[in-house]
This record gives sequence, C-alpha cells and structure tokens, in this order.
Amino acid sequence: MKRVTFPSAKQVPALGQGTWQMAESGAGRRAAIAALRLGLDLGMSVIDTAEMYGEGAVEEIVGEAIEGRRDEVFLVSKCYPQNASRKRMVEACTRSLKRLRTDRIDLYLLHWPGSVPIEETLDTFMRLKDEGRILDYGISNFDARGIQRVWSAAGGGGIVTDQVLFNLSERGVEWDLLPWCRKRNLPLMAYTPLGQGALLRDPALAKIAVRHDATPAQIALAWLLHKDGVLAIPKAGRVAHVQENRKAADIALTPADLAELDNAFPPPAGPGPLAIL
Ligand SMILES: NC(=O)c1ccc[n+]([C@@H]2O[C@H](COP(=O)([O-])OP(=O)(O)OC[C@H]3O[C@@H](n4cnc5c(N)ncnc54)[C@H](OP(=O)(O)O)[C@@H]3O)[C@@H](O)[C@H]2O)c1
Repeated sequence: MKRVTFPSAKQVPALGQGTWQMAESGAGRRAAIAALRLGLDLGMSVIDTAEMYGEGAVEEIVGEAIEGRRDEVFLVSKCYPQNASRKRMVEACTRSLKRLRTDRIDLYLLHWPGSVPIEETLDTFMRLKDEGRILDYGISNFDARGIQRVWSAAGGGGIVTDQVLFNLSERGVEWDLLPWCRKRNLPLMAYTPLGQGALLRDPALAKIAVRHDATPAQIALAWLLHKDGVLAIPKAGRVAHVQENRKAADIALTPADLAELDNAFPPPAGPGPLAIL
C-alpha cells in the first residue's frame, strides 16, 4: 500500500482507520472492534481516535481492539483544547493511555485551536515526548495561517501533521495548507474522507466507480490516496466497509477520471476559510 513518511522517517500506510461515532455498546460495539481488527489484518495500521469520542468510550474500544497487537498499530489520539495546558494535558494523556491499554501514543494531537497559549501546549508535548509517553505530536483543524504561527513558536518545528477536513467536496486545503505541508515533508491527515457518507451519492462519483468496477466510496478514497503526502482515515464500523475501503488503495485513477472529478468537484480557485466539522 502507498505510504506516507513522517519527519522522523517513520513510514505508515496512507490509508488508516477513523473511530469517531463508533457504537459504544452491544452488537455495534462488537462490530466496530471486529472492523478495526480486520483493518489491521489488511494493513490499515493507523488508528485515529480522541479523548472526545464518546468521552473516552471510543478510546476504550480501540484499546480492546488492539490488545495483544500494539506493535502493529500506529496510534493517534487527540486532546481537547481545554486540556492542552501543562497540568491538564499530562492528566488527559495519562487517561488516554489507560483507556488505550498502552504505554505510548504514536502521535498525539491538539484537537483544535483553543485558548491555552500554544507555547505551553508545545512545551507539554515535548515533555510527554521526552518521557516516551507520546512518540510525536501535531495539531488538528489549524488553517494555513494557524499552522505557520505554531511552526514559528518554540517547539512548533516539531509538529509532524495537521489533521483537517479534506475530501472531494471540501478541497480548500489544496490551495495553501497542503502545499505548505508538502514543502516541509509533513503528511496531511485527511479526516471525513467520505463526507460521512453524503458524498457517496454524487452521480459523477458513481459513473467513475462503474468504470473501475468499484464503489463511490472506493473512488473517493482513491482520489485522496493518489495525492502525495496525504493520509486518509475513513471510519468504518462494519467489516464489509473495511474490506471495501482497503481495496480503494489498489485503484489507479486515470487522468480522465481525475479530470472528471475536477469538473464535478472543482479545486479551490483562491484562499478560503478552513472547512471544519
Ligand atoms: N480532527 C477532527 O476534528 C476530526 C473530525 C472528524 C473526523 N475525524 C476523524 O476522521 C475519521 C473519519 O471521518 P468521519 O468519521 O467524520 O467520516 P467518514 O470517514 O467520511 O465517514 C464515515 C461514514 O461512512 C460510512 N462508510 C465507511 N466506509 C464506507 C463504505 N465503504 N461505503 C459506504 N459507507 C461507508 C461509515 O459507516 P459505518 O460506520 O456503518 O461503516 C460512516 O457512516 C473520524 O472517524 C475521526 O477519526 C477527525
């Protein structure tokens, strides 16, 4: 599978797994755990979660899913902005580690910009990294100006990603943020790559899917995967969707497909506000 490379030289598959809104109980929870495990079997080793998801319940699901397989996983979690202070982030990270049943988070992100001074957050990230509790750190939902401010703060040059909304119908980051990250060899994490399902009803996508004997979801993911330096994290709470999503990594879109997609989902013509969920 195509890979992205972090500044540490660590390489991970460009197709990972999201976990927001996974079912927190009953058959749905069991299905979500099976889906995550199948994703690992199929090489989708990046698992993205956050303390926010189910207020910790989703980190517990992830902890259960990766039990006994920790070394196969590149684990990403995020702290709330209100927990990004020196004292509270250490506590938040400790809670996340416990729920995730691990001693380290591969990549720990600030979930979105908040009111804690970024210098304090960065300093705390560095402390957690020194202690080995996180192996790398980064940000989420920062626009091009925001990431530049972080980058120029003390410790800001240590961030390794920005996780942002990026899919066929939300292409704004292609104007500024994605080129900025590429220049510095920072992979961009694309969240909501399937538009939470809404995108999949688009007729242009359906037409291209037929040509590849594929599904609209697979084409939406293949489009992100053909872009260098982009790591897509679709969430799938059932094994059939995981199987389908994994196959997207084997689809090679043609120049004609890409032109049709540009026509249906035009690239940005100028700077604009960062789309967020
Ligand atoms: N940093 C942030 O602020 C932020 C914000 C949003 C999301 N995220 C991360 O990004 C991940 C992905 O984004 P998302 O969960 O918002 O949306 P998404 O991945 O675009 O869409 C998820 C939805 O698509 C469905 N789906 C998955 N595979 C499918 C397939 N092959 N065919 C049809 N439907 C399919 C899922 O259904 P089933 O579950 O039933 O399989 C689910 O309803 C999140 O889970 C989270 O980890 C981060």
